[in-house]
Amino acid sequence: MKTIIAVLTLLFSPLLLAEQPTDRLDQSRQLALELQKALGAVLMPAMKNDGPIAAIAVCHEQAPEIAARISLPSGATVSRTALRVRNQQNQPNAQQQQILEQFLAQLQQDPTVAPESWQTHADGSQQYMKAIVMQPQCRACHGHSVKPEVLKAIQQRYPDDQATGFIVGDLRGAFVVSWPAQSSSND
Ligand code: HEC
Repeated sequence: MKTIIAVLTLLFSPLLLAEQPTDRLDQSRQLALELQKALGAVLMPAMKNDGPIAAIAVCHEQAPEIAARISLPSGATVSRTALRVRNQQNQPNAQQQQILEQFLAQLQQDPTVAPESWQTHADGSQQYMKAIVMQPQCRACHGHSVKPEVLKAIQQRYPDDQATGFIVGDLRGAFVVSWPAQSSSND
């Protein structure tokens, strides 16, 4: 079953990207970018002014809220996931995990392009994913040698954290934009 899904994913995602450019796909790309910018806009000043421990608190409180705020007016659900998560709420479902594994392979082949995928499910719901690649500024909280006091602050809030040990260029995770099945009206 796993192999079938992997093969189908590989076969269909480039096709869907090439042949079915939809408004939702464009919108999904924008929503992912919006989430990325909104998170950066709170995280980076907090890091600069107050350091990583304070920034972890900011991220903990605000990341889910920011995602919810961006999701609401769009009709889609915008979130983040990863193969190794910090926040357990961000665990991928089986299909998202397949796509993350595909991104991992694609990124290894071509590190210059952040892979993306666009899926339409049998029930008409749709999902966009875009790889999130480790950057130098992420190392303080997701890198190999996270400072012990920072690690402690992470583990206090996320006792099951799996999201350290990444190097720049690694697949850190993905943005996910999920759309409900379209109603038969003109949207
Ligand atoms: C100040 C520490 C800090 C920095 C710097 C940081 N993160 Fe995170 N990251 C966190 C925390 C805390 C969470 C959990 C947020 C939550 O509760 O939703 C998180 C969650 C994530 C997630 C969601 C998946 C998961 O593991 O739960 C991704 C993806 C992610 N970070 C990527 C990045 C990237 C890429 C960068 C650099 C551009 C970065 N982070 C920089 C602290 C940080």
